[in-house]
Amino acid sequence: MLLSAVAQAQPNIALIKYWGKRDAALNLPATDSLSLTLDSLWTRTRVRFEPGLTQDVLEFNGGANAAMQPRVAACLDWIRALAGSTLRARVQTRNNFPTAAGLASSASGFAALVVAATQALGLALNPAELSVWARRCSGSAARSIFGGICTLENGREADGSDTCARALLGADAWPLEVVVAVTSLERKAVSSGTGMQSGTRTSPYYAAWVDTAHGDLQRAKAAVASRDFAALAHVSEHNCLKMHAVMMTSEPALIYWTGATLATLQRVRALRERDGRHVFFTVDAGPQVKAVCLPEDADSVASALRAVPGVQTILRSRLGAGARCIADSTEI
Ligand code: DP6
Repeated sequence: MLLSAVAQAQPNIALIKYWGKRDAALNLPATDSLSLTLDSLWTRTRVRFEPGLTQDVLEFNGGANAAMQPRVAACLDWIRALAGSTLRARVQTRNNFPTAAGLASSASGFAALVVAATQALGLALNPAELSVWARRCSGSAARSIFGGICTLENGREADGSDTCARALLGADAWPLEVVVAVTSLERKAVSSGTGMQSGTRTSPYYAAWVDTAHGDLQRAKAAVASRDFAALAHVSEHNCLKMHAVMMTSEPALIYWTGATLATLQRVRALRERDGRHVFFTVDAGPQVKAVCLPEDADSVASALRAVPGVQTILRSRLGAGARCIADSTEI
């Protein structure tokens, strides 16, 4: 056993959103979701189990990260229990994109951690098993185990052992591009986990959100199967705005948008409805707008969104591969 491994995972962008948990202890989502795994944004993580360490040590982008430390240690505890190991680990991790700003860094972060840690302890898990463990750490991380387009649907088992992501289409099967309009680089004030708990307890729209989620997923799956961009655009924007309606009607209200977020949403709609571009928006628990488009429209979408007042940067990505081990010599 090597006791050390390096993994890379990319964030995913949910078109049908996970928001709410049916079991908080097992981290089981209350809603089915569907997402695109990106290519050019990544997390790289080295996990090295070291005899002599008395606690897990986390180095994040070259420094400490006290906020993430307990979640990383909990994830490693589950993997140690599975492997029958008591060794503590040194974890070095780096993102090539802004963290905790609504760009799905916990998805790529926990997917990379689970892949590296299980490999380092010699556990040969298949993608479905990796996805179950990634989901325990962070629901959206289950989906970054897979590339292209995948779903995360509720399984049948009460213990969540079959609640894992499943591949729908490979990264090259339907070339789509995601243009991210970054409107703020501040870390979000309320984490997804905390926001979901509050929405579940207080939003009068939460029950309707959960009731309609599976239908939205079925419509999105049918649109993906037939490569029907207009149908995918329609159900994705609708699902996104329903999630934000739950957020905004939580007590206290959760408003992740800035003025520039709204201006960007309106620009995306005008690009589609007035200029005939193949583009639609989605927004997660943060102020950034992700514009999903066909590759032939990506340049014009990117330059239009760059010109929206308040947009700070544009990031672009095609769809990419799922989480995987990479060379142990990789610099983190
Ligand atoms: C808005 O996966 O970050 O991005 O399971 O509590 O870690 P935890 O939540 P997380 O929530 C993601 C919420 C979302 C929608 C989505 O990715 O489906």
